[in-house]
Amino acid sequence: MRLVEPTAQSIAEAARLLRAGGLVAFPTETVYGLGGDATNERAVAAIFEAKGRPQFNPLISHVLDAGEAKRLVRWNDVADRLAARFWPGPLTLVLPRASGSPIALLATAGLDTAAIRAPSHPVAQALIRAAGRPLAAPSANRSGAISPTRAEHVAESLGERVALILDGGPCCVGVESTVLDLSAAAPTLLRPGGATREAIEAVIGPVALSDAVASGESPLKSPGQLKSHYAPGRALRLEATTVEADEGLLAFGADVPEGARLTCNLSAAGDLGEAAANLFAMLRALDQPGVNRIAVMPIPQAGLGLAINDRLRRAAADDATPQHG
Ligand code: TXA
Ligand code: MG
Repeated sequence: MRLVEPTAQSIAEAARLLRAGGLVAFPTETVYGLGGDATNERAVAAIFEAKGRPQFNPLISHVLDAGEAKRLVRWNDVADRLAARFWPGPLTLVLPRASGSPIALLATAGLDTAAIRAPSHPVAQALIRAAGRPLAAPSANRSGAISPTRAEHVAESLGERVALILDGGPCCVGVESTVLDLSAAAPTLLRPGGATREAIEAVIGPVALSDAVASGESPLKSPGQLKSHYAPGRALRLEATTVEADEGLLAFGADVPEGARLTCNLSAAGDLGEAAANLFAMLRALDQPGVNRIAVMPIPQAGLGLAINDRLRRAAADDATPQHG
């Protein structure tokens, strides 16, 4: 891991790393982010791996401006007014994914919505511009640790899990961005942060509070509690070592039972990073007419396997109600 001053040269190097699927920690005005190419499933899997989080939390995609955001999500009037007032700055907007949105499915944890923000920190902006793509970036700390507001915090928390840290000094806002959901009927505050509710209401009128924010709980502590978390329309059978003719098989590893209606292999090589990158696309691919149930082979409970198994267990526990078209 290297901690470097942001210069034209180091930013160009960071951008090369990002385009090659690598991870770079960078300053924003709120907290340091652990950035990866938001359009690259493998890069996003590497973010979850470095964070060591046993769950897939949906991530924020960082862009330069509203024009870029419009390619990623279904933009609307309210978003327009908020972006005009708060962007670039500490406000994250949750909107429906655009059809054909280039954002990786893993970055939105399989949800039909995506969180977008345009940071105001000049180093963050220079990096997004140089990378030429949206950057997925959660706070640059290991799971369970507090969000880092200095480059040294990032180095202590992530160590060798990140190749490069751009040292932009202390972050001036110091708390995370406000997360506002604009995908539902009424704008809803999912996480309080750098942009206040009052300032938002001055632009768009009343803002509802999510149950978690209203009750003072740590918001979205458990992303599985998100009402709209992704679940396939078919029942899941976990830990499958054999398969029935009417089942779709979500395989893992080289030793795959035969006879499924349809088989998708998360990783024939048994690579958990590859498996995480394929997870949501393959669940969707198996969620087909003619497939009565999805059998899932055992996945090792280690590294990214924890988050993969967490998501599969949630999907298996769900009523098999389709949540998408
Ligand atoms: O200030 C910030 O927002 C920092 C800097 C790096 O930009 N980033 C940050 O990311 O705090 P993270 O991953 O630690 O928090 C993102 C929050 C989580 O609470 C997540 O659940 C929520 O945004 N979120 C992301 N996508 C969502 C979606 N589609 N629907 C609902 N909530 C979403
Ligand atoms: Mg965080």
